[in-house]
Amino acid sequence: MKRIAVLTSGGDAPGMNAAIRAVVRSGYYHGLEVYGVYRGYTGLIQGDIEKMELGTVGDIIHRGGTVLYSSRCEEFKTEAGRQKAVEQLKKHQIDGLVVIGGDGSFQGAKKLTALGFPTIGVPGTIDNDIPATDFTIGFDTAVNTVVECIDKIRDTATSHERTYIVEVMGRDAGDIALWAGLADGAESILIPEAPYQIDEIVERLQRSSERGKKHSIIIVAEGVGSGLDVADKITDRLGWETRVTVLGHVQRGGSPTAFDRVLASRMGAKAVELLLSGQRDMMVAIRNNDVIGIDFDEALSQKHQPRMELYDLAKILSI
Ligand code: F6P
Repeated sequence: MKRIAVLTSGGDAPGMNAAIRAVVRSGYYHGLEVYGVYRGYTGLIQGDIEKMELGTVGDIIHRGGTVLYSSRCEEFKTEAGRQKAVEQLKKHQIDGLVVIGGDGSFQGAKKLTALGFPTIGVPGTIDNDIPATDFTIGFDTAVNTVVECIDKIRDTATSHERTYIVEVMGRDAGDIALWAGLADGAESILIPEAPYQIDEIVERLQRSSERGKKHSIIIVAEGVGSGLDVADKITDRLGWETRVTVLGHVQRGGSPTAFDRVLASRMGAKAVELLLSGQRDMMVAIRNNDVIGIDFDEALSQKHQPRMELYDLAKILSI
């Protein structure tokens, strides 16, 4: 293997730049040439590929977003699109590809390996919804962003004795809501993996109101539905004043935390090691703090599940 390429795909995540840097720097350390593919699979199909040097990735470890840009590419979902991508890789004499992205990007990477092209996935998404890895790059930063926002919301919730409903991202997964909710002492955390009962939330609110607490924070993962609906239900039952904040894309930006930078550095370097050792069809994962490679087939056949003991703990602590 002489020449590898790296791309970022799907929703960007803080720490993707640190992962790109790790692929480029460890690639050169091992005597490889490293190419960057711009705009994910879209750029791959179009041949938007350029050589990266050690200096190309200087001063990016602390930056959010991705210097390679990203996209969600419909054409790559077709056989013809993927064939074009492989032609471009061959034209640029690239022997292996590192795909930094989420679940959808890995489905694409897997199909690329089916066409015989060695590909390694590095999990980068704020959602933490990739099975087989304890953490994805960007999740820790997103949770910290949510916590920072909720700390601010709590100040005004206290002053006005209101109930705030905060809707967070995560697509179909409740991890962001769960970790941020636990870190913030939210009164209720609504995640798609655990159906909620509005009666239970209302009772909890009433109990804390009787104890003298007049403000509350309820976190709703977007996979559960709209925070506005939850607010309406609470107002219907209790007649209380509520406010809804949808945090949105602020969760995808910002400088990555030290945890995400270290995770991204370890995972990017591991992807290069896997390619060099002849692996062609794997994703990188972190399990029990070990960074390992797992076959795409094995990883993608599993179903992601957040740590439900955290959900139980949050309920105990917000009694
Ligand atoms: O996968 C990351 C994510 O931010 C999800 O949490 C969210 O549902 C989705 O992407 C939003 O995608 P877009 O930026 O395309 O609107």
